[in-house]
Amino acid sequence: MKKIQKICCIGAGYVGGPTMAVIADKCRDIQVTVVDVNQDRINEWNSEDLSQLPVYEPGLDELILRNRNNNLFFSTDIDKAIDEADMIFISVNTPTKTYGIGKGKAADLKYIELCARQIAKVAKSDKIVIEKSTLPVRTASAIKNILQNTNNGVSFQILSNPEFLAEGTAINDLTYPDRVLIGGDIHTEEGKQAIDLLSQIYQSWVPQEKILTTNIWSSELSKLTANAFLAQRISSINAISALCEATEADVTEVSRAIGFDSRIGPKFLNASVGFGGSCFQKDILNLVYISRSYHLDEVADYWEHVILMNDYQKRRFAEKIIKTLYNTVNDKKIALLGWAFKKDTNDTRESAAIYVADYLLNEQALLSVYDPKVTEGQIFTDVNRLGTRTEKENEQRLQVHNEIYDTVKGTHAIAVLTEWDEFIDFDWKRIYESMEKPAFVFDGRNILNASKMKALGFIYHGIGK
Ligand code: UDX
Ligand code: UDX
Ligand code: ADP
Repeated sequence: MKKIQKICCIGAGYVGGPTMAVIADKCRDIQVTVVDVNQDRINEWNSEDLSQLPVYEPGLDELILRNRNNNLFFSTDIDKAIDEADMIFISVNTPTKTYGIGKGKAADLKYIELCARQIAKVAKSDKIVIEKSTLPVRTASAIKNILQNTNNGVSFQILSNPEFLAEGTAINDLTYPDRVLIGGDIHTEEGKQAIDLLSQIYQSWVPQEKILTTNIWSSELSKLTANAFLAQRISSINAISALCEATEADVTEVSRAIGFDSRIGPKFLNASVGFGGSCFQKDILNLVYISRSYHLDEVADYWEHVILMNDYQKRRFAEKIIKTLYNTVNDKKIALLGWAFKKDTNDTRESAAIYVADYLLNEQALLSVYDPKVTEGQIFTDVNRLGTRTEKENEQRLQVHNEIYDTVKGTHAIAVLTEWDEFIDFDWKRIYESMEKPAFVFDGRNILNASKMKALGFIYHGIGK
């Protein structure tokens, strides 16, 4: 069996960049080229100044420094990279459709189809094509269809190899994965050989028993199901957090108590202002869309409620702020701490902060935002994209700061929206002194010490307390 010598990855984003950096690091004899249509992005990946990398991820800069221009390359020459590669990963974005049939629900496969067509056009030798982006079940067969009808004598094997890395811990998740899943055509020799070749790459650092192989559709569906289950745990505990706030129960105590049951387990039970990120909502919407298309309405409704509960949680948090501030936030200054959808990433896709900000702006609050890794430009792009009000109005009502003490000065309330570690160690006494009184803190991540905050004079509200 031939060995893989050259890999091409189409899409230099949050998935493609870190994944290829780890493969290049672990397989020094394989040349890895990551390509993208976006020239700016590629320039950032090639930047001498590692703080300019387009993705912030702990440990990523070291890997880039060690491997870039040895066996790891970033380029916009997509055709050349496809032509030379034995194996091609497709890791382009698959956002939810914003137009036409399935708008707001189905995945937009435009970028995937473009990739498949480009591979079909350029390839002159046999290739293994791997879907790495999260896709609705049966996308692989669409890719196969496009590739197998090129009539140029080239043969393609299609594999599904879903990514389970979580942002903020991507390098660790890739280095020590719980499992690697490879879906392929297990009934043909060529299919089995392609699975083996991909498996060999992972075996350079992943124990063989953690590499699972399935048929291609099980693999695709497993990715959607894993994300739906994880999101469902958060919506379940968030539902209980509302009940805790109405009673004498404390959601942290409830989480701890149920997490000790080994059948339930302790992870993903942190009540919060709501989950965000590029995957959870999109993948559940996909699952819902697929279920409806098979006329499984009860199944679709069941999963759809995980999203409805998440929308409720974001709205409920904003409403609590308004209600607590004597039913009006009109022209009151409120500080938002954190804009990323979780700590240790600069990614803001579907972040709860965007929606909380939008509710508060609707009530004519004045917002001042601080996030250690998200740029001012990104924050304005996120609120402007909602289209709730004009860009000018957003500029008048929202300010972005680079420093915490400027952010909180003269505010009536602080809302913690991302669980950045540095927030815990702020000089909260100094913050308290610079705020209007009474000074409120709404901790959407339950990261601050409630009794310490109260002792300083804050009126403190956590989630589910
Ligand atoms: C349950 C709780 O497990 C226990 O902690 C609590 O004290 C009482 O309620 P029980 O109802 O006795 O215990 O049985 P359990 O093993 O939880 O099973 C409940 C039902 O779920 C059974 O009908 C079982 O067949 C079914 N089940 C369980 C499944 O269908 N699939 C599974 O994977 C597990
Ligand atoms: C997720 C999956 O975990 C990963 O396996 C998949 O490949 C991609 O989607 P990611 O979106 O990067 O990863 O982050 P994750 O850690 O899952 O967090 C998602 C959201 O849930 C964040 O907004 C996070 O703050 C929130 N969350 C997570 C909670 O609110 N409570 C929790 O207990 C855990
Ligand atoms: P993910 O979180 O899935 O990695 P990103 O949006 O971070 O998503 O990255 C996807 C990348 O794929 C983007 O940089 C985008 O420019 C790139 N991309 C999309 N379509 C194509 C295409 N047809 N060819 C090359 N790159 C593409």
